[in-house]
Amino acid sequence: MADNPLRLGLEAERRPDPFTLIIFGATGDLCRRKLLPALYNLALDGWLPEPFLVIGVGRTAWTDDAFRQTAAEAIDRFSRRARDRARWEAFARHLAYVAGDFQDGDTYQRIGQRLTEAPAEAEASRLFYLATPPALYPVVAERLRKSGLHRSDGTGWVRIIVEKPFGHDLESARALNQSLHQVFGEDQLFRIDHYLGKETVQNLLVFRFANGIFEPLWNQQFIDHVQITVAESIGLEGRGGYYESAGALRDMVQNHMLQLLSLIAMEPPATLDADAIRDEKVKVLKALRPLTGHEVNEFTVRGQYQAGVVDGVPVPGYRQEPDVDPQSNTESYVALRLQIDNWRWAGVPFYLRTGKRLARRVSEIAIQFKRPPHRLFAATRAAEMDPNLLAVKIQPDEGMALRFGAKVPGPHIRVRTVNMEFLYGTSFADPAPEAYERLLLDAMWGDSTLFTRKDEVEVAWAFISGILEGWQRYHTPLYFYEAGSWGPGAADDLIARDALRWRRP
Ligand code: BG6
Repeated sequence: MADNPLRLGLEAERRPDPFTLIIFGATGDLCRRKLLPALYNLALDGWLPEPFLVIGVGRTAWTDDAFRQTAAEAIDRFSRRARDRARWEAFARHLAYVAGDFQDGDTYQRIGQRLTEAPAEAEASRLFYLATPPALYPVVAERLRKSGLHRSDGTGWVRIIVEKPFGHDLESARALNQSLHQVFGEDQLFRIDHYLGKETVQNLLVFRFANGIFEPLWNQQFIDHVQITVAESIGLEGRGGYYESAGALRDMVQNHMLQLLSLIAMEPPATLDADAIRDEKVKVLKALRPLTGHEVNEFTVRGQYQAGVVDGVPVPGYRQEPDVDPQSNTESYVALRLQIDNWRWAGVPFYLRTGKRLARRVSEIAIQFKRPPHRLFAATRAAEMDPNLLAVKIQPDEGMALRFGAKVPGPHIRVRTVNMEFLYGTSFADPAPEAYERLLLDAMWGDSTLFTRKDEVEVAWAFISGILEGWQRYHTPLYFYEAGSWGPGAADDLIARDALRWRRP
């Protein structure tokens, strides 16, 4: 839609240069659910250049046609827009497949062969996508180096996108950075955090820094506290093996939630340059007060779901999920009370919570403001009014709501809490693109603003590793919650100690 301002920004950009995208892990879930549908939608919107080529690489012995067939099914199932026959056929011609083991040098020779068959402009610029188990990231990078595929001939570019999880703790994240850097420079490395591709998350920057009215209030003088909620109603979705060794803190907080926190808390960057923005985010992460000693037990809550009912359907408990240890101590829920030790946020608690099998899927950031300094309406019922609150709704109902008090019509002073709302769905006719569409396009353009930088990942891990170590050392308990509830009672106690309650989004 021509009058959609968010789209106008994009349309001002050019199409990316011709390229070849090489997806390692092309037979996997991520490729089917996210990457192929995202590429198809980019093609529908006219974002892909001519020529371009997508080479899927996987162990299954598929032909090009078998890969195209899987892609068709994946798009039918997961694309936000239906498959159009003519457009699909034009798109499918760009898909190719190479079968092989990622550890085997021959696989890379075959990829090289396919590249030489591609049109020269497409072959010159290569985007590798590591959608493999993380243990293979260094292996594939090293093989790319040995085969020379990591080198461009000088007319194009070479970049690599790395999926999460990026490391398991600080040490492994550092080691991974080191091994990838042996092959690729930081400007070639695109570490995915798909939350950064969500429209509403990007809007946080626009909201804060393109408007004049919010930023003056955005500090400890006016803000009482911040609550960040990322609640999921789904369970493990067949990922028990991975999740058992991760848990909610690694799976959601180290990446997505700390990203949300840094965008909410960062200082205004001087420019929109990728590094200017990431510099400010890193400063926030560095200012997070580490939880030391017994503080982990005071300021964090670990939870695990038991059998219950979600959306009217009975679901098993965490320990009954496939590939989960029946005695598992892994947390499927975590709540945290964090502090940012800087001038802007001194004394403002940030409460974070995330969990699986909660009552419903909802992600939001709630900024609660302080009450007015003088209670002018104290003798009236206004004193009972809820404090002002700004809710940034990330999903599923994207938008913002500002809560304030208004006088109830009539001869007496009575104040009622009302909401002023902006909803994406009603203000912008176009449905928002999926996060992966935006992120793939940015990587094709070479814009790393929405990807996490080396230091950013390591600072986030340093903070999280401190908590993980504390949990071990101080035997932080695991509290159970019923699937379909809002988490363990201990999380309510955590926030109640500050005389507050979790918001019911
Ligand atoms: C992933 C986690 O990074 O994010 C999953 O590994 C989680 O466990 C998912 O379900 C949530 O993403 P979204 O976009 O559905 O909020």
